[in-house]
Amino acid sequence: MSEQYGFGNPEVIEEELDILIIGGGMAACGAAFEIQRWAEGTGLKVKLVDKAAMSRSGAVAMGLSAINTYMGENDPADYVRYVRSDLMGIVREDLVYDVGRHVDDSVHNFEEWGLPVWKQPGDEGKPLRDGGKPVRSGKWQIMINGESYKWIVAEAAKKALGQDRIQERVFIVRLVTDKNDPNRVAGAAGFSVREHKLYIYRFKCCLLVCGGAVNVFRPRSVGEGTGRAWYPVWNAGSTYAMAAECGAELTMMENRFVPARFKDGYGPVGAWFLLFKAKVANGMGEDYGTLRGAELKDAKRFGKYGQGVPGTCLRNHLMLNEMKEGRGPIIMDTVTAMKNLAAKMTPKEVKHLEAEAWEDFLDMTISQCGIWAGENIEPDKQPSEIMPTEPYLLGSHAGCAGIWVSGPTDLPGTPKEWSWGYNRMTTVKGLFTAGDGVGASGHKFSSGSFTEGRIAAKAMVKFALDNKDWKPEMLRSKDELVEEVYRPVKNFLQHKDYTTAIDVNPHYITPKMLQFRLQKIMDEYVAGVATWYQTNAKMLEMAEKKLVMIREDAQKMRAKDLHELLRAWENYHRILAAEAHMRHIQYRQETRYPGYYYRTDYNYIDDENWKCFVNSRYDRDTGAWELKKVPHKQLIKD
Ligand code: FAD
Ligand code: ADX
Repeated sequence: MSEQYGFGNPEVIEEELDILIIGGGMAACGAAFEIQRWAEGTGLKVKLVDKAAMSRSGAVAMGLSAINTYMGENDPADYVRYVRSDLMGIVREDLVYDVGRHVDDSVHNFEEWGLPVWKQPGDEGKPLRDGGKPVRSGKWQIMINGESYKWIVAEAAKKALGQDRIQERVFIVRLVTDKNDPNRVAGAAGFSVREHKLYIYRFKCCLLVCGGAVNVFRPRSVGEGTGRAWYPVWNAGSTYAMAAECGAELTMMENRFVPARFKDGYGPVGAWFLLFKAKVANGMGEDYGTLRGAELKDAKRFGKYGQGVPGTCLRNHLMLNEMKEGRGPIIMDTVTAMKNLAAKMTPKEVKHLEAEAWEDFLDMTISQCGIWAGENIEPDKQPSEIMPTEPYLLGSHAGCAGIWVSGPTDLPGTPKEWSWGYNRMTTVKGLFTAGDGVGASGHKFSSGSFTEGRIAAKAMVKFALDNKDWKPEMLRSKDELVEEVYRPVKNFLQHKDYTTAIDVNPHYITPKMLQFRLQKIMDEYVAGVATWYQTNAKMLEMAEKKLVMIREDAQKMRAKDLHELLRAWENYHRILAAEAHMRHIQYRQETRYPGYYYRTDYNYIDDENWKCFVNSRYDRDTGAWELKKVPHKQLIKD
C-alpha cells in the first residue's frame, strides 16, 4: 500500500475482553460508572471505546440547559402515561417504567459530581438528594447550568472505570457473530481515526450505545451552513446498522424525530415554551394553535390522540399546516414572553433574565447565539423564526426508533415474551444496548439514557459471569476483517492513478458524494422536507430500489485518508439505518405520527390494525429484510 497517503499496512491489535462498551455518550458513561460496582473482584476485563473524545462526544457535547427526565415528586407510572401519550400510544411500558423508577438517583449523582441544578428560592444549596426543590421548566424537566454537563459526567465515568480501560478515537465498524452460534455476538472490529491501527476485540458481551442517526436526510443547512444540524455529528446510525447486521431485531424504526427549532441555529424550544411561556404565531400573527387546534379532534384521522394535550408530533402537524397552506413563517414571540416575565422584576432581575435567555443557548446550542448575534437579534426586542428540521432517527428524545430488547420482569402484566433473562439484551445473545439504542421507549433524554446504561451494565456483568467458561470464536478471520474495514482505502489506492482529478474516477465514489446521494433519496422519496414529510407506497417502492443500489455502490466508496475512512463507514451505517426506516414506513400502512411523517395513501391513525409494534430483521448474507407485527400491551391504566 502507498505510504504517500499515510496508508502502509495497518497495525492490527487484537484484544480479548469480557465486556466491551461501544460508545462514550450518556448511556456509555452510565455503564462505565455502574459496571465496576458489580464487576469488582470478579476478574472481569472491561473496556470502553469511543470514536471521539468522551468529555465532549455525543448529544450532550455542547452541554444542555435542562435535564428532561427527573421524577422528583412525580410517580413513574405517570411518567409512563406521558411517554405513551407523546409517542402516540405505542411504547414498551416495562422499559419506560424501569427508567422512571431509577432515573432520579442518576440525577442526584450528577449534582454531587458538580453539575449546578437550579433551585427554588429558599432551597439554594440544598441538594436534590436531601429534598432540595429544583426549578422545573415542565412537569418532567429541571433547569441546570449545563455547559459542562458532558465533561462532568464523563469525568465520573473515567474515574469509575479507570483511564487505562478507555480508548478514545476508535470507530467500531462492525460486530462479528460467533462461529458456533450465529445468534451470538463474539467480537467487534474497528479502527483508530488518528493512528494507522485496526482493532479487533473478542468478548463475552458488549453494550452497543453509539446514539441515533444524523444526516440521513438532506439537511436544511446547505452550502455555507453545511454540517450544522440539530442532532450531533458523531451519531451516524452505527447502533442500528451494526445491530441489524448482527441479526438483532429492530423495533419502531418507522419512528423519527422532527424537532421544531429556532430556524438555522437549531436552538431548542423547550425552555422558551415551558419556562419563559413564549407563544408562537403564524405569519399573519394568528395564534394558530388556538384557531385551528380543534382540527386534531377529528377522530377519523387522529384517533383518540388529538383529544387531550397534543404530543410533540401533533404540535408539529399544526405548525406544518400553517406553512404548507402559505401562512408561514412561524414566529416565536420572545419579546412579549420576556416583557411578561419582567413585569414583576427588579431591573437587576431583568438583566439576569436577559442573561438566561442567552445562556439557554450558550449552554447547549452555541450556534443559535451566533445566528442571533449575526442577525442583530436581541430576544427581548425582536422575535425569532421557528422551523421544523430535517428528520433524525433516535430512541431517547421525543422519538422511539431502536432495537427490541429484553425488559424487567416485575411490572404486573408484562408479557413473558418481553423478557429473556438479561435486562436490555437484544435478541442476539450477548448484545446489549441502551439510550438511543433501545426502541419503543423514548423520552429518556440524558438522565434516562445514563440510567439505562447503568441497568444494562449490571445485567452484562451477570451475563459475563454466567458465561465465564465460554470462549468467543469469531466467524470472520482477522484477514477478512482487515480486508473489509480497509476496503475503501484499497479502492482508492488501486484506482487513484486512473484519472488526473482525484475526486473524479469511474472506479470509486467519494464518501461526500455518496452522502449527497443518500440524502437526496431520503429527502425526495422517504418523507423529507422536500415533500413536506409526505410519502406513499409508490414513492417508497422507488426508494427501495435506489437504497438497495446505493448499498451495493457503497462498496465502491474510497478513502484517501483516515478521515475519509471514517466518513465512508459512517455513510455505510447511515444507509442501513435509512433502509430500516424506509422499510418500516413502507410496512406500517397508516400515519401513526402526523407531523413527523405522512403516508398520504393511509393518512390516518388506524388503531384497529396498527396499534402494535413493527419489528424487523435484516439478513446480512442475503440483504433481505423481514418485517412483522408484534402485539402491543398497555400495562399502566389510563
Ligand atoms: P450519545 O450521548 O449521543 O452518545 C453516543 C456515543 O457514541 C458518542 O460518544 C459517540 O462518539 C459514540 N459513537 C457513535 N458512533 C460510534 C462508533 N461507530 N464507534 C464508537 N463510538 C461511536 N436531554 C436532556 O435531558 N435535556 C436536554 O436539554 C437535551 N437536549 C438535547 C439537545 C440535543 C441537540 C440533542 C441531540 C439531544 C438532547 N437531549 C437532551 C437528549 C440526550 O442528549 C440524549 O438522550 C442522550 O445523549 C442519548 O444518549 P446515548 O448514549 O444514547 O447517545
Ligand atoms: S431539547 O432536548 O433539545 O432541549 P426541547 O427544547 O424541544 O428539546 O424539549 C425539552 C423538553 O421540553 C422535552 O421534554 C420536550 O418534550 C418538552 N417540550 C418542548 N416544547 C414543548 C411544548 N410546546 N409543550 C410541551 N412540552 C414541550
